[in-house]
Amino acid sequence: MGYNRCSMAKKELPIGEIVKGDFLKLASKWPESSVDLVFADPPYNIGWKYDKYDDRLDDDAYTQWTDAWICACADLLKPSGSFYVLIGDEYAAETRLILKRLEREGRLFFRNWIVWHYTFGQNCKVKFNRSHAHLFYCVGSAAAGGLGKGASKKGELPFTFNREAIAVPSARQTTYGDARANPKGKLPDDTWYLRPQEAEGVYFKEGEDVWAMSRLCGTFKERLGWHPCQLPESLLERIIKVSSHEGDVVFDPFSGSGTTLAAAAKLGRKWLGTELSANYAKKGMQRVKQVEATGETVLVTTGQKGIVRGKPKKKAEKKKSAHLKRRRGVYEEVAEEV
Ligand SMILES: C[S@@+](CC[C@H](N)C(=O)[O-])C[C@H]1O[C@@H](n2cnc3c(N)ncnc32)[C@H](O)[C@@H]1O
Repeated sequence: MGYNRCSMAKKELPIGEIVKGDFLKLASKWPESSVDLVFADPPYNIGWKYDKYDDRLDDDAYTQWTDAWICACADLLKPSGSFYVLIGDEYAAETRLILKRLEREGRLFFRNWIVWHYTFGQNCKVKFNRSHAHLFYCVGSAAAGGLGKGASKKGELPFTFNREAIAVPSARQTTYGDARANPKGKLPDDTWYLRPQEAEGVYFKEGEDVWAMSRLCGTFKERLGWHPCQLPESLLERIIKVSSHEGDVVFDPFSGSGTTLAAAAKLGRKWLGTELSANYAKKGMQRVKQVEATGETVLVTTGQKGIVRGKPKKKAEKKKSAHLKRRRGVYEEVAEEV
């Protein structure tokens, strides 16, 4: 569970691979200050059913493990790099406190607490449906001295922030026709939605629906159907576009179905992941290689996944975890989703 850096000579980073194994063991042998962007979507300790990992640690063990892997990520990150962690309500506060300590130690500097608002798929019976996750955005140790005055205008930021790559039209442009509007748009708010124009052809056909950035539900073409918590590539695309340049190294310690790395490959970044499950690592590699070869998101139809439309009782995928309903009420919405 703990993390100790190996004092021996460090291996080269195995770029272009999803390395099977425990991230902490693998990372301890890799060179420090070697990746430009880390995105981490760890298990949330909510009893989710993975094929190898048991998502039911006690609170202290989980928090200690979170501390260890965040420290390992901070070591791998270049001083000019960026670090994002996505986490659920249950451990958002604990994770934020760990990041605070690392800031005091001069290792990571907090920039935003982003809320990813998603829709679709939750169906609680006696409480409000969950529709968000927490995304903490930090930058590396080069930001220790703060940002100099006018640093962004002078192109002197101590980290990568490609404003124009992710700018969205402002209300002055779209609604008020205000001549003072910046023609280059504005930065997105720290509550993130995926607008329909970014999702067209991937989740719904043009004009079919209007919605905020969705989870990937079992029936969506992007959902591959073999990993319980695949994220949408669009979420990762925004992060990769704003916080890295083409050719930079993007790293995901919990690569799962390979979403981060698929998005990185699509955007011309170098990529590297670690994954505990041999099965997920193998299938994730196949996915990322396919994206690299075609430049396109891998899509799978409901027919290919064996889902028959018009038969609502048939679940798109198996329940995420058989034991969830037996646990505290806090988990019951997870048991309801498909
Ligand atoms: C929340 S999922 C990541 C999902 C991923 N973001 C996606 O879009 O597919 C977390 C993953 O971490 C993996 N995992 C758990 N412990 C690990 C460890 N110590 N080292 C590497 N991977 C681990 C699990 O097998 C699981 O696939």
